[in-house]
Amino acid sequence: MEPNSQVIVALDHDNRATADAVVEQLGDACRFYKIGLELLTAAGPDIVKDLVAQGKEVFLDLKLFEIPNSVAGAVRAAGAMGVSLVTVHGMGGSSIMAAAVDAARDFPGLRILALTVVTSMTDADLADIGVADTVDEQVLRLARLARKAGCHGVTASPQDVAALRRILGSDALIVTPGIVLPGESSAEHARHGTPGAALTAGASHVVVGRSVTRAADPAAAFRLVQAPPAA
Ligand code: C5P
Repeated sequence: MEPNSQVIVALDHDNRATADAVVEQLGDACRFYKIGLELLTAAGPDIVKDLVAQGKEVFLDLKLFEIPNSVAGAVRAAGAMGVSLVTVHGMGGSSIMAAAVDAARDFPGLRILALTVVTSMTDADLADIGVADTVDEQVLRLARLARKAGCHGVTASPQDVAALRRILGSDALIVTPGIVLPGESSAEHARHGTPGAALTAGASHVVVGRSVTRAADPAAAFRLVQAPPAA
């Protein structure tokens, strides 16, 4: 089977051995992995460098929200490791996003994604932090801001993809976590969708974690993500 770069597997593990085992089980079929704060903190940056050395692409989900100088430094450190994607919080505003984009210019393979609204958040969660807009409005607002700041794309829930594709145009990356396989429980994802629905709506990539990594047979689950049965 041809490796498929549209499906990114999230290695959300608290130790390197478990992550390595998943990579081993998926083999050549998967060439794109997401590493987040848990694994990066537990295992250190060597796993990023080793995956890149194996020819894998790495989405380093740092969710940066810092002063622009520190954001730029973290982006440069990611670029130096050969990372392909880094996330920055759209809620941090234009200067943070622009600093990330600027720092990425030295690394031709590196793209900056703005995180709009975490897929678990609801309108009530936004109201709690003083945001009067609905989630839908906030997602579009931050996506427009991200585009203006020069970001290469956004991360967003499957349900936001169609509207985002309309406002961001055909070249933008739209990377969607919050993926569930048909028939799976969606308790944790307030705004979830299946891989097929997300890609059909215009996502450039889907991020899937536990449905693959905690499956009895990760390789079989990965194949299901790539070619989900018709709903
Ligand atoms: O739920 P799953 O294991 O597929 O999560 C994969 C990735 O999707 C996580 O690393 C997380 O960053 C992201 N996610 C999200 N919103 C959720 C659940 C997961 O953005 N509600």
